[in-house]
Order: sequence, then C-alpha cells, then structure tokens
Amino acid sequence: MGILKKLIAGNWKMNPSSSDDALTLASSIKDAPNSNKVEWLICPPMPFLTGVLGVVENSCVSVGSQDCSEFSKGAYTGQTSSDMLASIGCKYAIIGHSERRSLLGETDEVCMNKAILALEAKITPIICVGESLAERKSGDAYKAIEKSLSAIAPIIDKSVIAYEPLWSIGTGISASHEDISLMHCFIREKTNSRILYGGSVNPQNARDILNIKNVGGVLVGGASLDAKKFLAIGGAA
Ligand code: PGA
Repeated sequence: MGILKKLIAGNWKMNPSSSDDALTLASSIKDAPNSNKVEWLICPPMPFLTGVLGVVENSCVSVGSQDCSEFSKGAYTGQTSSDMLASIGCKYAIIGHSERRSLLGETDEVCMNKAILALEAKITPIICVGESLAERKSGDAYKAIEKSLSAIAPIIDKSVIAYEPLWSIGTGISASHEDISLMHCFIREKTNSRILYGGSVNPQNARDILNIKNVGGVLVGGASLDAKKFLAIGGAA
C-alpha cells in the first residue's frame, strides 16, 4: 500500500485551559499549507472538538479525539462514544496513549474494543504502543511492542500505529534514528498501515525523523501547542 502523505498529528492532551485559547490555537493552524506531502490533524480535548471543527472547516486540517469509549452507548457516565465523535466530524481517535494506559489502566484488550467501535463509526484509530525505559534497558522493547500489536492484530491494517517509547514522551529526548528505524521496520513486518513516531518531536528533529524509512508521520504532544512549531514540523516533511 503506497502511503505518500505524512500524517502530522497534534495531541493537545489536557490543554489549553479555555475554549477561547483552543479556538485561537486552531485558528493559527487552520491555514496550514495544503500539500501533497502532508496530512494535518489536531486532537483537542473533548469539550473543544465542536468549536475547533468549526474553525478548521473548509481547511486541510482534520480533527480527531484523544480517546473514545470502549462501549457503544448507554449508562457510561463521562464517556464519549465513537458514534458521537463521528457525528460531529472527527476523522481519527487516538487510542491507548501511554498516559491513559499508565494512569487509567487501559489494557491492550480495552484498546482493541475501542478500535473496533471507532472503525464501525468510520473513525480511524491511531493506536499508541511503546516500551518503558525498563523494557528498553532490559532488551524487552520488541517483546512489549509485539504484545500490544498482537492484541490488535485483527484490525491493525485498518488502523494507524503510533510508536511512542514511554521514555521519550515529554522528556525532550527523542529516540535515536537507529531505534526508530529498527522499531518501525519491526512494526512494518506486521502491518501495511501508516506508522507514526511520537516522543519529543520538534521542528529541529522532525526532518530527520520523517525521513526514516517506514515513518509515515509523527504524533506531536508539547510542540503541537505552539502553532509555529507544529507548522514547522509539517513543513519539514
Ligand atoms: P511529546 O508527546 O511530543 O510532548 O513528547 C508526544 C505524545 O505524548 O503523543
């Protein structure tokens, strides 16, 4: 499968603090250049999705959610279903981000359930996988990734995979060129899907990372909250 465009995805996490600030940020991203090399995506917090969707309407920037429920509907207080997200225009949903796995105990099985419902709603899941520092140091990084990928095997080819080593998220330490290259190659053996790298991506390292074989884009946290930096990352593609 030839995937030419690099997906430049911004994960805003629990930022910014107000709707006004979210709309301002979206406004400064909405004029991102429409190029045949880049697909732009921003993933704001749930309460800002509708407003941000309005801001980027008719632009080349898509909107995704940072999560979706593992249940389809009903008595699940506080949850947001994939059908709801699809009905407002979300194209992607980040699933199984390491912060959700570690803080909220989200398992591979839960991620699989979420991804199935997302796909049914015609939302593309961006499923995050990554090893801990301990796993990396003990030589178990590939085993950890293999476990997460085998849990989603039935839907992996319909999803986007984001390889995000836990020790590189928000630390300013991105994985080395070699580590990214080897892990993306390992993941490529299991799927034809787009494979993103995430973890301390910034305008300085983006070009190098995006040029690595099998890297189909980047999932950007901190730097996606600064429109200039986010646009520069896409510009490096
Ligand atoms: P970071 O976060 O770019 O701030 O390291 C990446 C992520 O958590 O997706």
